[in-house]
Amino acid sequence: MKTTSLSAVFLSGLLAGLGQAAEQSFNAVPGSASYPTQAEWQAFNQSIGGYLQKTVPWAAVCYPTSGYYNKEACDQVNAGYTTGLKREVVYGSTEQIQYEACGNHNCQLFSMVPGLSLNALGTCELGRLSAYYVDARDPATVSATVKFARQHNIRLSIKNTGHDYLGRSVAPNTLAIWTHNMNEMKYYPTWTATNCSIQKENIGEIGAGAFAGDVYEFFAEHGMDIPGGNAASVGLAGGYGQTGGHGVFGPSRGLMVDNAVEFEVVTADGQVRVINECNDPDLFWAMRGGGGGNYAVLTKYKFQTYPGLPVSMHVFRANISMISESLSNNSKIRALLSAHVKNQINWSANNISGRHYYASNFVEFYTILPYADDGSKLKELTTDFVNEISSIPNLNPTENAYYHYDNYSAYNAQAQPVAARVTPNGYAAAVSSRLIPRWLFTPENATTLVDAFVNALQDNAQINQVLSGTTSVEVLMTTPANIPDTEGKTSANPSWRTALWHPVFTGGWTVGSTLDQQQQTYQKVFDAVNHLRDLTPGGGSYVNEDSILVDNWQETFWGSNYDRLLSIKQKYDPDHMFDCYKCVGWRGADE
Ligand SMILES: Cc1cc2nc3c(=O)[nH]c(=O)nc-3n(C[C@H](O)[C@H](O)[C@H](O)COP(=O)(O)OP(=O)(O)OC[C@H]3O[C@@H](n4cnc5c(N)ncnc54)[C@H](O)[C@@H]3O)c2cc1C
Ligand SMILES: *[C@@H]1O[C@H](CO)[C@@H](O)[C@H](O)[C@H]1NC(C)=O
Ligand SMILES: *[C@@H]1O[C@H](CO)[C@@H](O)[C@H](O)[C@H]1NC(C)=O
Ligand SMILES: *[C@@H]1O[C@H](CO)[C@@H](O)[C@H](O)[C@H]1NC(C)=O
Ligand SMILES: *[C@@H]1O[C@H](CO)[C@@H](O)[C@H](O)[C@H]1NC(C)=O
Ligand SMILES: *[C@@H]1O[C@H](CO)[C@@H](O)[C@H](O)[C@H]1NC(C)=O
Ligand SMILES: *[C@@H]1O[C@H](CO)[C@@H](O)[C@H](O)[C@H]1NC(C)=O
Ligand SMILES: *[C@@H]1O[C@H](CO)[C@@H](O)[C@H](O)[C@H]1NC(C)=O
Ligand SMILES: *[C@@H]1O[C@H](CO)[C@@H](O)[C@H](O)[C@H]1NC(C)=O
Repeated sequence: MKTTSLSAVFLSGLLAGLGQAAEQSFNAVPGSASYPTQAEWQAFNQSIGGYLQKTVPWAAVCYPTSGYYNKEACDQVNAGYTTGLKREVVYGSTEQIQYEACGNHNCQLFSMVPGLSLNALGTCELGRLSAYYVDARDPATVSATVKFARQHNIRLSIKNTGHDYLGRSVAPNTLAIWTHNMNEMKYYPTWTATNCSIQKENIGEIGAGAFAGDVYEFFAEHGMDIPGGNAASVGLAGGYGQTGGHGVFGPSRGLMVDNAVEFEVVTADGQVRVINECNDPDLFWAMRGGGGGNYAVLTKYKFQTYPGLPVSMHVFRANISMISESLSNNSKIRALLSAHVKNQINWSANNISGRHYYASNFVEFYTILPYADDGSKLKELTTDFVNEISSIPNLNPTENAYYHYDNYSAYNAQAQPVAARVTPNGYAAAVSSRLIPRWLFTPENATTLVDAFVNALQDNAQINQVLSGTTSVEVLMTTPANIPDTEGKTSANPSWRTALWHPVFTGGWTVGSTLDQQQQTYQKVFDAVNHLRDLTPGGGSYVNEDSILVDNWQETFWGSNYDRLLSIKQKYDPDHMFDCYKCVGWRGADE
């Protein structure tokens, strides 16, 4: 027994050496010469403490022929089908259901078609999910997994919450690393960087798998705010924190990547590294905007936190039909947008953020200011706006009120149900967006911007929105308006720095639509944003919330940072062990 396993280890080492010398393509699939045998999978599983798992799709319990059928468990899957926080606690599910599917192969439910029972269709199949995943608990396991995949020439994929709109957290025939259970959190009132003289106060540390909602609560107990996003279900250290990460604190504190101070990562050579402005500074820069999924596996994320502030908010809600209203020049939609555009430069200068939702049959505006007062400042800065929109004829708002919260937790307690209602998960969402620069909000350009936006809104409102009551367009005022990154410390798209709006357009479908219909929905959502692309030649967008159809993606997603990002990719991952769709260094669908 002992002899066998020793010689297996020796042989593995030899093969690993050979593998590194030859060019690696990481394309082994079952049947390939280098693909692990059952015995090799088992030996690997033992070597990592039993954390290798065979994937069972989340809804397999609803499929009578899957071998996992269980009525009670299926009822629970059905009940949580559109809830992000339910979907992401298993590897075998993604937040956007099209990425669980591969062509017609999937294991989805018919849960969102009104009038149909919540039945499973056909046979349960993996779709784009990996057959095996490693439920990683520490960097050593990640390192062993990277080495095993290299030795057997298998591609890796990295999945955290599975929120990615481009489906980059899953890829067929990969060995998946699931980061969900690396979720420890720590707070350092004072902190010194590893191997580096940089010292800071109020540093937070989160494991790769921590959910936003848990992170808010943990740091609230220390009286600190963090540069998080909207939905509690997003993973802050994964795609969010390695690519951008915008939220309510955007104008005053910047993006999540602006606040990063140190990462623990496992690189493609299997090495565990602690990277910051002193150690591997080029990789640290690249992973502050150029990730995730394509430089290394991040295991820990350290970032700046801030003493907690009260949050003031104005809410305006009205029922209004986007389609019939937005045609005429004196429409209510145009009046709402004109009032908003007129105030935006002032609001951004004053660190106001927020999210204005436009659905096909309602608008809901949340205008938000984290600020240490009783709410007076937000009132002062929004009085003209509120007066103007309150006097739009026949709009009859269902809500038009100010709120004040003592802290972010209290604010968040009302924000989460709104997010769950207007931006649910568990259907196939197709999004597209564009960063809208400050100069388009000037009096000279305001009408041009409003015209383009009305056209874009109207085009998008005509797309099937799947769930009635969900948003069609979110106008997000969460850009880093007052955090210019003049020293170029991050690699996030430079277009963020001039932007005041990040509008996200959404359409979608559910199980039962044809591939042709799906393609058309992607195209229509993408095309609606052309009205805004035309206004912003050479401009950019946020890769995490734009369409799979963007073709000049290198420039659109990373602008002038792309070339340097590519050279750093070539240095740390020369043979493309990590590769993902339209990520830095992506070589096209054939690779
Ligand atoms: C409902 C909803 C709300 C959202 N709200 C916001 C918002 O308010 N602000 C905002 O900025 N964005 C928001 N997003 C977009 C979000 O930032 C992206 O979906 C992001 O990719 C999510 O990251 P994740 O790690 O949670 O997801 P995943 O899909 O698991 O991962 C995303 C990408 O990161 C990679 N990755 C994950 N973990 C690691 C790791 N440890 N190391 C290396 N690579 C890794 C994956 O391989 C994949 O390429 C939202 C998305 C949804 C669906
Ligand atoms: C790995 O080992 C654990 C613990 O023995 C076991 O539960 C799990 O099913 C194994 N994984 C695979 C893929 O066999
Ligand atoms: C710190 O620096 C030393 C010497 O350069 C190096 O050997 C060590 O690996 C570094 N430690 C980390 C955590 O980077
Ligand atoms: C936040 O404010 C609420 C309501 O005012 C209060 O009950 C709660 O204890 C506060 N939470 C923290 C973490 O300070
Ligand atoms: C906005 O936030 C920035 C950065 O935190 C701060 O320097 C500035 O004073 C704030 N502006 C106002 C008007 O409060
Ligand atoms: C607005 O629309 C919602 C959802 O359709 C409906 O429940 C509500 O009664 C409407 N309110 C008014 C004032 O028309
Ligand atoms: C709106 O006004 C513009 C110019 O003010 C005009 O060109 C356009 O035709 C008008 N559109 C509609 C639908 O009335
Ligand atoms: C913003 O608007 C407020 C209220 O209307 C006004 O007092 C202030 O001078 C404006 N600030 C800027 C920077 O324009
Ligand atoms: C209006 O927009 C154009 C580009 O479309 C820009 O060149 C110009 O500077 C803008 N005007 C102002 C006052 O910012």
